[in-house]
Amino acid sequence: MKAAVLHEVNQPLVIEDISVPNPGPREVLIRTKVAGLCHSDLHFIEGLYPHPLPAVLGHESAGVVEKVGSDVTYVKPGDHVVTCLSVFCGTCDNCTTGRPVLCTDTTVKMLPGQSNRLSWGRKEKLNQFLNLSSFAEQMLVHENAIVKIRKDMPLELAALIGCGVITGYGAVVNTAKVQAGESVVVIGCGGVGMAAINGAEIAGAGRIIAVDTNPAKLQLATKLGATDVVDPRNGDVVQQVRDLTNGGVHHSFEVLGRKETAEQAFAMLAPGGTATIVGMIPFGQKIELHGFDFLRERRIQGSSMGSNHFRVDMPRLVEFYMRGKLHLEDWISAKIKLSEINEGFANMKAGKTLRSVIMFDA
Ligand code: APR
Ligand code: ZN
Ligand code: ZN
Repeated sequence: MKAAVLHEVNQPLVIEDISVPNPGPREVLIRTKVAGLCHSDLHFIEGLYPHPLPAVLGHESAGVVEKVGSDVTYVKPGDHVVTCLSVFCGTCDNCTTGRPVLCTDTTVKMLPGQSNRLSWGRKEKLNQFLNLSSFAEQMLVHENAIVKIRKDMPLELAALIGCGVITGYGAVVNTAKVQAGESVVVIGCGGVGMAAINGAEIAGAGRIIAVDTNPAKLQLATKLGATDVVDPRNGDVVQQVRDLTNGGVHHSFEVLGRKETAEQAFAMLAPGGTATIVGMIPFGQKIELHGFDFLRERRIQGSSMGSNHFRVDMPRLVEFYMRGKLHLEDWISAKIKLSEINEGFANMKAGKTLRSVIMFDA
């Protein structure tokens, strides 16, 4: 089968012929139907985050179950599934106390370079990425890395839920637990930021302020629920938000992964407000906060994959889509072939796309 391989950072991905073994007892073989290009993949391509190479990237996908291992009862061939990198064991301390996103069992949630699920007839090991590797026609994954979804859900929209949408929506609903009427700022309205805005709308937030340097993104943000927009090119972002909110917001979300915007997210909080950092700030970088601001109980926290319980959250997101509350069609800017993946990432970098999705059957 075909897969896009990252051989070296800052080099184009190369389409190679690879294979996967038969599923082990708790593994599932999936025919990949759709894979989204996520900014986090780009972080790894650019070497901002380390990963053993060569590797097959990709972690936002949906497909159809082809084969299951001997102990798998959760799915059967033909089931439609969404994948999630938040694979969970179900028995460690974090899983048992309701935080499966932080699962510590590395026999299930394997560390980079640990799994042996991909081969390609060369001596050099081909690494699986985040226990998924979606930029491939087939995926071999642990059964706890997938969720079943209804078959009338279009798979190209379902795939988006697998990372970008759950990350943004979950940051608002699960991590920050935004209450009806509270004010929200989202800094960075890419795929993940838009999901945070749509999530804030679903949660019943009051003011929803979108911050982005791209006017087209701000326009779409308004369609998805933003009540106000702020363009950093029109002056100090913190001041603009303070002016709109009478002194500060209840919740800010940094969905970009930069020092400067993370600092803005904290600085724009009202007393008692919480900043949630969703973006992946380049490895090794530190952020600076004004210590005085903690006196009025301002908080700052991280959010990983929207603090998801994906087996519950993702089918709910599918229902929100079906009821017209989650505007997934608006996320897809381009449907591409696996062979067009490098152009897809170039367009992401240029800010031309919200999400490009690889359609494997096209
Ligand atoms: N202030 C506000 N917005 C900005 C700024 C800025 N200074 N600079 C760029 N942006 C906007 C871009 O215009 C774009 O709309 O931020 C957005 C980033 O979006 P994407 O590139 O689509 O990124 P996305 O996939 O949403 O991921 C964002 O979340 O999960 C993490 O790793 C991911 O760190 C990344 C972040
Ligand atoms: Zn992602
Ligand atoms: Zn666990």
